[in-house]
Amino acid sequence: MNSSTASAPAPLPPCYTVPVLHKLLAPSLCLATLLLAACGGSTPTASPSPINNTPDCSSGSVDSRATCYESQMTQAQKLQLVTGDSSAGTMGGAGFIPGIPSLGIPDLNFVDGSVGVGNGLGPATALPSSIASAATWDTNEAYKYGTVIGKEMRAYGADVNLGGNVNLTAGREPRDGRTFETKGEDPLLAGAITVAHLQGIEDQHVIAGIKHFALNDQESGRTTANVIIDERAMRESDLLAFEIGVKQSGVQSVMCAYNLVNGVYSCENSHLLTDILKTSWGFPGFVMSDWWATHSTAAAANAGLDQEQPNNTYFSQLGAAISSGTVPQTRLDDMVHRILHAMIANGVIDNPPSKGTLDVAGDEAIAQEEEEQGAVLLQNNNTQLPLNAAALHNIAVIGSHADVGVLSGGGSAQVQPIGGAALSFKPLCPPCWGGQIWDPSSPLKAIQAAAPGATVSFNDGSDPTAAATLAAGADVAIVFVSNWESEGMDLPDLDFDDDPAAGISGQDALVSAVAAANPHTVVVVESGGAQIMPWLNQVNAVLEAWYPGQEGGPAIANLLFGVVNPSGKLPITFPASVSQLPRPQIPQPPDSSTPFNVNYTEGYNVGYKWFDSQNLTPLFPFGFGLSYTTFSFSNATLTNNLSGSNPNIQISFNLQNTGSVAGAEVAQVYLQMPAALNEAPRRLIGWLKVSLNPGQTQSETIEVDENTAAHPLSYWDPTSQQWQLGSGTYNVYLGDSSRNTTLVGTFQAP
Ligand code: BGC
Repeated sequence: MNSSTASAPAPLPPCYTVPVLHKLLAPSLCLATLLLAACGGSTPTASPSPINNTPDCSSGSVDSRATCYESQMTQAQKLQLVTGDSSAGTMGGAGFIPGIPSLGIPDLNFVDGSVGVGNGLGPATALPSSIASAATWDTNEAYKYGTVIGKEMRAYGADVNLGGNVNLTAGREPRDGRTFETKGEDPLLAGAITVAHLQGIEDQHVIAGIKHFALNDQESGRTTANVIIDERAMRESDLLAFEIGVKQSGVQSVMCAYNLVNGVYSCENSHLLTDILKTSWGFPGFVMSDWWATHSTAAAANAGLDQEQPNNTYFSQLGAAISSGTVPQTRLDDMVHRILHAMIANGVIDNPPSKGTLDVAGDEAIAQEEEEQGAVLLQNNNTQLPLNAAALHNIAVIGSHADVGVLSGGGSAQVQPIGGAALSFKPLCPPCWGGQIWDPSSPLKAIQAAAPGATVSFNDGSDPTAAATLAAGADVAIVFVSNWESEGMDLPDLDFDDDPAAGISGQDALVSAVAAANPHTVVVVESGGAQIMPWLNQVNAVLEAWYPGQEGGPAIANLLFGVVNPSGKLPITFPASVSQLPRPQIPQPPDSSTPFNVNYTEGYNVGYKWFDSQNLTPLFPFGFGLSYTTFSFSNATLTNNLSGSNPNIQISFNLQNTGSVAGAEVAQVYLQMPAALNEAPRRLIGWLKVSLNPGQTQSETIEVDENTAAHPLSYWDPTSQQWQLGSGTYNVYLGDSSRNTTLVGTFQAP
């Protein structure tokens, strides 16, 4: 596997001061406050009692230090740490737990942050979507992404990040409204990108988190959906992404999910929380509930929940449950130990958060770089791209508010961009919270700057005839199409839906009308995930820009004009139609409170594995992405070192840039397992992103280590409850997408 070593970037000069007082409460908190009022939730009172002759807990192992702090805590202080206090705390994040000053334990401020600092804490760098970060296939880029979030959270004084959404929604249910927050459909890629994000955050002395544990793959009925899946299937898919994330990043907090898994709510699911996460994987940190995802006191505590959020609806009775013996005292001590472990391991006690400044220029530069590395060129007929500025006199830019900004994803991951929203709307979707924000980065202005000699005109796309008229007179027509996703809703389909609040409708017809008027039509897609494109054969070029973040304008212009050569690869499959999905219709809840089954009959065949197993032809396959240059693989060989103490296989090859511009290719290794194991036809087991100058050839080796959390060569054996290397013949393939590979070699096991 590609296991790039991350290193922290050098600090850049500060240039933006975080407002000390922030008045805006996050949408979730507004909701929280309302619900609390309705439920009569109460706040536990802290009773910090100064302790004389306090032992010094400042040195020793993380565990011994946690024990040291814990040994000095009163029962009330322990109970205080295991539940949110139902307020937005000192800064207005998603949740808060007051510290224990007498012991030097700081406040815990919980703030969302999947794509930048969330909860309306204040202006923060709006990064491209996490799915764009996954599309870089580059853990160094992903590490930088995490550092931006960690640094900015710390500058606001927050110390617990609630990002880290590694659910494989993109493959299970690509219409999920939170797909933009995730890292794609493959457990190894999603796991590796998440590890890098989490490490980037943790290195800023912020407790990073991974969520939603587990199998939280649809927003429709998310609090009552009961996922039915067998052990092997979940271990080899969604749980594998978590296993990699947990074991390889040292992450200290896990958020359990709203949904049920095999009949048990995730936050009181002892099989998930205790058997798998804590016992099998050895997770040393704490499990917090998703917001109001706790359903019991003793059952949740005994199953392994360590912290109820955002209030104490159930854990207010924990003290009584301990007194009556339904929850052992040792369980409370363990909860506290785990929370302290997280605070010590991530440096929150030794380096408590302090307000600082945002490095706006530095962070925006990273935001732009992430988009430039993550955008995926899906089609480029007739070498339409890159555009040659010198040869263009008239450029038509059309649609999706490209004159002022770029779209971002909604819900708890929503970032208030630096500079303020270019536009904001209040869409009328089911329980829609927050609003829709267009980040302040104008593609139109960036295109004009890239082609100073050309006349660049804009049409808003509301009238396809007018847009086509503008396009007809232009040398090139660039149409922006968008599809808004948000937490709290699923997309009805994978079409470019109407967005009446934003004044966007009939986008497919718009593209067709423009393409009919101008043979040089380029489509730029702003989406949180996969899209269906009925007009694909009518246009020359398509660039998947995801939600591009607040530097999206210049990044898109750089990609269109070839200042940057596209190198992103799809971390998800784009279906040709929703009828190809395992569940063509999203299972809907019968009402708001009755659990309903969502049967994961596809098992571990998530995303491309499903498409391969069903012999379906997607619109674009997993791993696919074009470049302005071409590459060629040669001399690929397989070495099998399975009998050693570090069992691995090595795939060596030459990669040549056979075109005329510099570019980067992602070499991808797929494994076909012995037929008797009944596995997916192919699984990704390694990759490497390689940058090459024109004509340059480089020899590379991808080593796939078996003894890692990714278990790349194994299957989960439910009988022995272990990963096993099955016996038989294995075929190893190398290529530039899941559907364009050649056989490198074969090995036998055991
Ligand atoms: C979301 C979580 C989020 C939490 C706090 C919940 O609705 O599912 O992902 O971290 O709210 O905002």
